[in-house]
Amino acid sequence: MTDNIILRCEGVNKLYKQGEETIYALKDVSMSVRRGEFLILCGKSGSGKSTLLNVLSGFDVPTAGKVIIGGEDMAGMNDRQRAKLRNEKIGFVFQSYHLLPILTARENILSPLLIGKRPVNDKFFEELCGSLGITHRLEHLPSEMSGGECQRVAVARAMITQPDVLFADEPTGNLDKKSAGELIALLKQAHDRFGQTILMVTHDESLLPYGDRVYRMENGTPMLV
Ligand SMILES: Nc1ncnc2c1ncn2[C@@H]1O[C@H](COP(=O)(O)OP(=O)(O)O)[C@@H](O)[C@H]1O
Ligand SMILES: [Mg+2]
Repeated sequence: MTDNIILRCEGVNKLYKQGEETIYALKDVSMSVRRGEFLILCGKSGSGKSTLLNVLSGFDVPTAGKVIIGGEDMAGMNDRQRAKLRNEKIGFVFQSYHLLPILTARENILSPLLIGKRPVNDKFFEELCGSLGITHRLEHLPSEMSGGECQRVAVARAMITQPDVLFADEPTGNLDKKSAGELIALLKQAHDRFGQTILMVTHDESLLPYGDRVYRMENGTPMLV
């Protein structure tokens, strides 16, 4: 059923020109993400995973094709409209956390609501922080937290707006094995508890069992595994 599809793209291509050479980072990509699923995109370095995530999340625009999120077609939107759509419908977790160093964990988590001039749902905030195991770290700065804690704060920041889709690009890439295991288990728990739709990129094959569905990216084209 199409109304169960929260995000889809059709015929998406992304080319990069480097001098004489043209790199096809994405080749004729059509795929969809269902509401409430935990979708994993795996594949080798350079296969186009980050490019696809950036295009699907509106950080970047495709050379051709369309991307529709929550019923809204991103083609034809200007930068301001895409920024608003991202703030309202998208959460993004980066490999290197990207927390603001001068803000406490609490301030970092709430920043998307402040930017979007939206009210804080105190109950959801408390439940989310509890679920991610960071309630006791909220008044600390990123420099006072471990990598695993920083990434859990980054996940809370990406989920606080209850986005249509949470994107995560190699979220365990900077973590040691133990912290990576904790992060993925907590991400899965938050997905189950809050029904959060997730599209996660990883090259770590041991994480694939967490996905409801897995796509493998090869030379710019994702294939369902
Ligand atoms: N801004 C860019 N300019 C030129 N080439 C790029 C750019 N971004 C990515 N690429 C190229 O596109 C391909 C896919 O890159 P990327 O999406 O980062 O792969 P992955 O995340 O799977 O490692 C690679 O060949 C990469 O070198
Ligand atoms: Mg990448």
